[in-house]
Amino acid sequence: MSFDLERIRKLEAQDDNILFDRIQKIRKDYGKDLCVLAHLYQRKKITELADFVGDSFGLSQSAAHFSGGKYIVFAGVRFMAESAAILCRPDQEVLHPDPEAGCPMADMASIEEVHRAWNFLKGLEDQAPIPVTYMNSTADIKAFCGEHGGTICTSSNATKTFEWAFQKSKRIFFLPDEHLGRNTALKFGIDPNDIAVWDPEKLDGGEPENYQEARVILWRGYCPVHQKFTVRDIQHVRKFYPNAKVIVHPECPTDVVKAADFVGSTDFIRKYVAQETKARDQVFIGTEINLVQNLAAQYPDRMIQKLHRSLCLTMYQITLGRLLYTLENIETFDRVQVLPSVKRYAKVALDRMLSLPS
Ligand code: 13P
Ligand code: SF4
Repeated sequence: MSFDLERIRKLEAQDDNILFDRIQKIRKDYGKDLCVLAHLYQRKKITELADFVGDSFGLSQSAAHFSGGKYIVFAGVRFMAESAAILCRPDQEVLHPDPEAGCPMADMASIEEVHRAWNFLKGLEDQAPIPVTYMNSTADIKAFCGEHGGTICTSSNATKTFEWAFQKSKRIFFLPDEHLGRNTALKFGIDPNDIAVWDPEKLDGGEPENYQEARVILWRGYCPVHQKFTVRDIQHVRKFYPNAKVIVHPECPTDVVKAADFVGSTDFIRKYVAQETKARDQVFIGTEINLVQNLAAQYPDRMIQKLHRSLCLTMYQITLGRLLYTLENIETFDRVQVLPSVKRYAKVALDRMLSLPS
């Protein structure tokens, strides 16, 4: 179906409360046949109307276990909607309100580049690495990992995934987020000298001896939203708010993670604020701005602040107007499609991830 952009713009110009009520009415009409999943970076009103709001791990669990009917509408970025389409039942369909809303980090690794890297790395002496891709990657890279004995991780289970992979090989090939890979490897106790970086821009991959001793080989990719946080931001907080706690997402650079008090996934951050803080506590959060603002609104008795303003533009592309447009056209709106050949092995990798003990 082609988008009626004029109609979408008209809807987007309407008052949020009106859009909210109209969405709720459609949701009521569809009852258990419809489930709206939303990532924690979504705008507040969307998180308020979703059936489940969570981090990318929780959302994939929800998609795999949604026992209701036909439609799953995914408010998040493309790789999340694709993962839901791989994990849901064959009779269910996933709709993504803005198919153009991708993740810039996921786009930093193409399957062609991964094949080129693999052809080089699989020939390393001793042992080929186990490929582990971050959830923030395309479906064909997930399938690549599934087909080559590897798996997928999210920011909430990366350490466990490393444990699993090191039982199979002495080295891991981790993509596409260099920072999450390094932060996890260091947490796991890997010597920094045993971490190498694969730069997809260098077509020949460099010298084999650069990788021969490596226990972890990281893809040179990053999240533009989390790359913006710096140690200076944290020093600034420490100077003016000595009692404040700083909590950051593991997609932040390693020096930022080391300078923070806590590090964890979006759901970890949410739980930290909900369970570990009380009235008048001061918390500075280094992650996407919508999550910080939503938590600040939810807990007005605490001082919850951003470490730095950083917006994920593609998450923000999902508006209430687009969501309503999707629901109004639910019968004809394009479904998220994943080729059966890709789906097969991507599901192997996702199932491996979901079956790791919690
Ligand atoms: P979470 O897995 O913590 O939800 O993170 C997903 C993401 O895209 C963070 O930038
Ligand atoms: Fe991708 Fe970063 Fe946006 Fe997360 S915050 S969806 S990693 S660009």
